[in-house]
Amino acid sequence: MKNNRMAKLERANFGSKLGVILATAGSAVGLGNVWRFPYMTGENGGAVFILIYLVCVLLLGIPCMISEFIIGRHAQANTARAYRKLSGGSPWSIIGYMGVLTGFLITGYYAVVSGWCLQYIWSSLLGHLQGNPEYIKAYFAEFSSDPVKPVFWTAIILLITFLIVEHGVRDGIERASKLLMPTLFILLLIIVAASCMLPGADAGIEFLFKPDFNAVNGDVFLGALGQSFYSLSIAMGCICTYASYFSKQTNLTKTAVQIGVIDCMVAILAGLMIFPAAFSVGISPDSGPSLIFITLPNVFQQAFSAAPALGYVISLLFYALLALAALTSLISLHEVSTAFFQEEMVITRKRAAVIVTVSTCVIGALCSLSLGAAGTTLVFFGRSMFDWFDFVTGQIFLPIVGFLTCIFLGWFVPHKLVRDEFTNWGTLRGTFFHLYIFLVKYVCPICILFVFLHQFGLI
Ligand code: PHE
Repeated sequence: MKNNRMAKLERANFGSKLGVILATAGSAVGLGNVWRFPYMTGENGGAVFILIYLVCVLLLGIPCMISEFIIGRHAQANTARAYRKLSGGSPWSIIGYMGVLTGFLITGYYAVVSGWCLQYIWSSLLGHLQGNPEYIKAYFAEFSSDPVKPVFWTAIILLITFLIVEHGVRDGIERASKLLMPTLFILLLIIVAASCMLPGADAGIEFLFKPDFNAVNGDVFLGALGQSFYSLSIAMGCICTYASYFSKQTNLTKTAVQIGVIDCMVAILAGLMIFPAAFSVGISPDSGPSLIFITLPNVFQQAFSAAPALGYVISLLFYALLALAALTSLISLHEVSTAFFQEEMVITRKRAAVIVTVSTCVIGALCSLSLGAAGTTLVFFGRSMFDWFDFVTGQIFLPIVGFLTCIFLGWFVPHKLVRDEFTNWGTLRGTFFHLYIFLVKYVCPICILFVFLHQFGLI
């Protein structure tokens, strides 16, 4: 009882509106924006895909984000307890635990890729990323399957995350976001400007923005939907956990729209950073990790071959940007489990953060080793442990948690409670409340179900 009261009294919150926006945008803006979005856009009809993506963010992503905001802020507790509180301890509580588990599992494998970014900053700094395309390819293959280096960088990025999270919501997460996010925007603008000024850059801009209606089919819609959820950090406990630190004055709808706009802007700017440079040297952009870790070092090298010093700086800035984007997302993922352990086990924040850092580091190390260093020991049914984590969290847990959250909030939580949170107890007009409820009750769950069934080839 005493402990509970203490935990309540001590519960922190974000100190300013800007802090709320930058921290939440920090969670949303991540590796998904920088490599996945630009490539998907190029593959799926350019401007048409961007348009469909924006509709998905507006009609599905933002309502789901508002739902998580409502659950988190209402309960003022970690994600598992938040769902438990709102469901009155009924089986719906399981969604909260699944959200925490998803966040926890992703932390380890997201840290591995974030660690690669650190290694690439280091190799750019030392000038090791210079050489012909074959060399860069071999460099990545060798590095990512090394038993020590990637594990070392995974541990380093988790340690940095730990040092931030351990300082608490205001002094750690909020303060770091206020520093990291503006730096990220500045880096982004510098690289976009450098990339778009290259000779022949317009071909890349055209590739990104030219609508190709022939490319549009069902897959494009489903791809855009999946990407919008991942990019907004939905269904992983992050948004719900951060919302538990919002104040009663935070306008949830406005905040969700602002985050959506920032996230889309960064994604589009990332496209403007990558494609003009790639097209100016006639390299066709690849998908997945190979885009940022194999193709781009070549692109930068060749595109700025007339001014190698500039190429060196741009490459360095690019990996710094990538690491920053990854770090702010990692902080939010780490916080999901830290808040969970702290509140459920009633231990100090520091101890909870240590537990999360150590355990996710072990998961990260296993994921990393599964990419080659451990031979086939960590490969199950033809998939490495790394791929399994990606698959299970992104393709199974994410849609299930998202779907159930919509059903729970739309159909089971009393509308009065939802309305109170939506309108800040009647102090806001809540013009879009009925639209929001309609989307959460019908449109979002149906669309999520489609994506889920489609990816298993069931429809
Ligand atoms: N939204 C992040 C991105 O775009 C990924 C992420 C997902 C981060 C879930 C936190 C939680 O890369």
